[in-house]
Amino acid sequence: MKLAVIGNPIKHSKSPEIHAEFAKQAGIEISFKKVEVSLENCNEWVESFFKEGGKGLSVTLPLKEQCIKIADEVSERAKISGAANVLYELNGKIIADCTDGTGLINDLVKNKKIPIKDKNILLIGAGGAARGIIPNFLLEHPKLITVANRTFSRASKLVDELSNTASLSSKSSILIASGLNPEELKDLHFDIIINATSVSTNPKLNLNLDKSIFKNTSVALDLYYSQAFTPFMESAKDAQVPIVIDGWGMLVEQAAESFNLWTNVNPDTSNLIAKHGE
Ligand code: ATR
Repeated sequence: MKLAVIGNPIKHSKSPEIHAEFAKQAGIEISFKKVEVSLENCNEWVESFFKEGGKGLSVTLPLKEQCIKIADEVSERAKISGAANVLYELNGKIIADCTDGTGLINDLVKNKKIPIKDKNILLIGAGGAARGIIPNFLLEHPKLITVANRTFSRASKLVDELSNTASLSSKSSILIASGLNPEELKDLHFDIIINATSVSTNPKLNLNLDKSIFKNTSVALDLYYSQAFTPFMESAKDAQVPIVIDGWGMLVEQAAESFNLWTNVNPDTSNLIAKHGE
């Protein structure tokens, strides 16, 4: 089965190793390359990949929005998030889907037994990553999700859009937007704080969160994955947050969901998650 991961940069992608492990478990032979594809070449590259017998693609930055446009059909969850992290061929059509949110919830709720129901959640960031996970959080019925972002108008636009999405507005949870102002956030309390900004991708950047934001917080999660603690994770650890995690589990779980779309096999993720990218 011909599979690949595309994006730019792509050098550090762990997808080939993750899918090789799933394929070994399932007894399926796969070829899985990582390919640097630019936004300009994306359409052409994807079309010829599928024309030449490709079955599935993992999609990463900066191609996630573009891949929605390329597809013949787009899943409901990918439509809501406005981005696709997976493409696959079905009956001659290219289908776009987004497994990021489901992957994250599977990691938190199933693997790590972290309940979301009735929790107060602070989501920092209002870009593609934040958009991709909010719908899945709403389905778990948190008490409140507060979206905070450096650019207030972007957070407010995101909240408005998602609140007006028919399939989500019935999910009862309220969304409010807030600026990323420590003073403003200080008096609120959050059970779970998620860093969905792109700050952790650059070791020179730091959100410089006020420590007080972590009071009463039991889980701090950075969606980014790296071997080392990110500055966000360090701040949470310094503030004695009991559970500090990164995006490794989400990465493995979104890959498992994607693998299932390509092969109809549900891989066991436990070994990979325990290894934490080693
Ligand atoms: P992604 O698809 O990874 O989410 P994105 O759509 O470019 O990427 O969004 C990046 C997010 O990180 C945004 O929320 C951005 O804030 P702005 O909307 O204000 O740009 C946030 N971000 C990036 N650099 C940041 C920084 N130095 N400090 C705070 N937030 C930052």
